[in-house]
Amino acid sequence: MAILVTGGAGFIGSNFVLDWLAQADEPIVNLDALTYAGNLENLSSLAGDSRHVFVRGDIGDFDLVADLLARHRPRAIVNFAAESHVDRSIHGPEDFIRTNVVGTFRLLEAARAYWNGLAADDRAGFRFLHVSTDEVYGSLAPDAPAFTETNRYEPNSPYSASKAASDHLVRAYHHTYGLPVLTTNCSNNYGPYQFPEKLIPLCMHNAQAGKPLPLYGDGRQIRDWLYVGDHCSAIRRVLEAGSIGEVYNIGGWNEQTNREVVATLCAILDELSPRADGRSYAEQIVFVQDRPGHDRRYAINAGKIERALGWHPAETFATGLRKTVRWYLDHQQWLRNVTSGAYRNWLKQQYGA
Ligand code: NAD
Ligand code: TYD
Repeated sequence: MAILVTGGAGFIGSNFVLDWLAQADEPIVNLDALTYAGNLENLSSLAGDSRHVFVRGDIGDFDLVADLLARHRPRAIVNFAAESHVDRSIHGPEDFIRTNVVGTFRLLEAARAYWNGLAADDRAGFRFLHVSTDEVYGSLAPDAPAFTETNRYEPNSPYSASKAASDHLVRAYHHTYGLPVLTTNCSNNYGPYQFPEKLIPLCMHNAQAGKPLPLYGDGRQIRDWLYVGDHCSAIRRVLEAGSIGEVYNIGGWNEQTNREVVATLCAILDELSPRADGRSYAEQIVFVQDRPGHDRRYAINAGKIERALGWHPAETFATGLRKTVRWYLDHQQWLRNVTSGAYRNWLKQQYGA
């Protein structure tokens, strides 16, 4: 048996691959296009491990995916591959349509053809798990209840609209063709190996480089934050026991304003790696122009996955953020390689220009 993971060199995907292989011997075929967000350094601890088969390629390449499925005969596909950064989607939405919408469609087509050709037992056991986001539900008023799986889709950014489209395609492939799909919609993740374009690793990097910590607008936008290891355990649980065709919201019951997130980060840094001048990193916070169309609040009701599948997050925000800060402090070379672009040298070495 094996599973096919897409986007497994990115932030959440690489955490998922590492956690999976730390707990089981079932091999992973990891298909990743290695865009700017894919970093094989995240997986360097798996060098020489025959349980991990890395393939550089695009989920939108039907022939490649069909070939991988035919050769490795996985019992499941877990689809992480996506363009994932809202700000980039505002500057250049096209890549988001190409990967998140067209890419997911082609991956579904390849999965459907493969699944149709399986023997009855294998067909019954096969799963296509699509990893999505809470951002598809749009923005909540301050006193509105947290998102449940039945909330209307109201995506507001090109990123969330493209993820919404992919969720709809996944749903349609179940209803129309019977493909055994599962969809998860998770809140904001944080933890090791996150690309420093996202709020927490960006602030980790800038804090230590003596640069400003930029908060958009008034910094009072609210997100629910979940430690990446808890997202990975939720996905494993849904894959193992989720009901076909169902959607599961995943979250940390942890709403924080961006101001609170960055203030907590600074307080942990002040303790673990104090500034040379003895002042607080919080002095580096600046308020900058807001993101266009910035969603004000997201909140996740994770009651369904907790009741139906018995999943609970292991980390609180306090424990998860402390672990995360420690990880970045202990992996400064990783951060330097990403910010300098050196992580891409491996690519040139391996694949040429
Ligand atoms: P990421 O940007 O860190 O990683 C994405 C990975 O996908 C990269 O390795 C990239 O090379 C790869 N990729 C991009 N286009 C591809 C293509 N066409 N074919 C194959 N590989 C491709 O993203 P992430 O933060 O790890 O998010 C992973 C998934 O989880 C995404 O689907 C995202 O929408 C979803 N999600 C993310 C969060 C979050 O807070 N980061 C929260 C909820 C859901
Ligand atoms: P981000 O990490 O980009 O995730 P998302 O937009 O998917 O929620 O941003 C998290 C929050 O932090 C979001 O409200 C935007 C805000 N933000 C800043 O205030 N400053 C920044 O430099 C960044 C990258 C994000």
